[in-house]
Amino acid sequence: ARLIAGGKISNRSVSLVLLDFEGTQLAGHEVELDQTAHESGELAALLAGHVGELAEKIDRSLADVAGFGLGIAGIVDAPRGFVHWSPSLTARNVEFGKILTATLGIPVFLDNDANLVAMAEKSFGLGQGHSDFIVVTIESGVGMGVVINDEIYRGTRGCGAEFGHTKVQLEGALCRCGQRGCLEAYVADYALLREAMSASGGQDSRQVEELLAAAKGGDAVAGSIVERAGRMFAMGLANLVNIFDPELIILAGEQMQASHLYAEEVIEVMRKLIVQVDKAPPEVVVHKWGNQMWARGAAAYALDNVSELALQE
Ligand code: BGC
Ligand code: NA
Ligand code: ZN
Repeated sequence: ARLIAGGKISNRSVSLVLLDFEGTQLAGHEVELDQTAHESGELAALLAGHVGELAEKIDRSLADVAGFGLGIAGIVDAPRGFVHWSPSLTARNVEFGKILTATLGIPVFLDNDANLVAMAEKSFGLGQGHSDFIVVTIESGVGMGVVINDEIYRGTRGCGAEFGHTKVQLEGALCRCGQRGCLEAYVADYALLREAMSASGGQDSRQVEELLAAAKGGDAVAGSIVERAGRMFAMGLANLVNIFDPELIILAGEQMQASHLYAEEVIEVMRKLIVQVDKAPPEVVVHKWGNQMWARGAAAYALDNVSELALQE
């Protein structure tokens, strides 16, 4: 087996890549999904089909793939491949890593999506040369990958680094995790759409891109929703700096196509909310790169794991 596969599941799509062991991308594609949450066996079969198809595109087969790394949103106990909760799965507490490995017939390494973005940044992105940095992703949800001493920090149960579910409001807005007052419930795509909907009495059917564009164009309702999201986000970033004091914060994800979460005003609010010391605050940079690069981060994770397995043999 001479190939490594990587994938990222988003709200309604999957991005897949195939690399050789040197990290060169040989093939890649995006697959639309018809729904957000799936039954685990069904999703595993679907992924097996698409990875196999991708291999066939370059005249290989699934049997040539030494390992598949997959990033998925939610609470993932990465070493066990166990998913406590994911918006992509209909059930909670799923041995998804095992199901995938059995279905694909090759070793599958599962991790939280944002952790694998941090892996991508560390391996070939803006995190290169940094030992302590944080990646925050904003799209369907708000994710985070934390690199401490060159390693991804996952917490003891895999529940760590869930920035999206840090609380910014007591008894606040409902989050997709089921709790209230999470940062994500004010900043993520669905939160913005929900607010636009309620501000219009259920009449607003705009997509996120349209809402953001309207805010930019001077639409007052859209403007105030987006502006509040920016201030909430700034508060969250300040909390991160106050806890971790990282060298660098990288912002990534689809919402980075619009500037409302990294505009100078937002960064200024963050700066005001961090503990003031006689040294410059961490740099905040924006990385607008696509899902395929995230999938490559997942492939890098698989390659690490495959190499480790080979060493143990
Ligand atoms: C999930 C995270 C995930 C993030 C981005 C959040 O809702 O809880 O685990 O990383 O969305 O997909
Ligand atoms: Na994470
Ligand atoms: Zn939440």
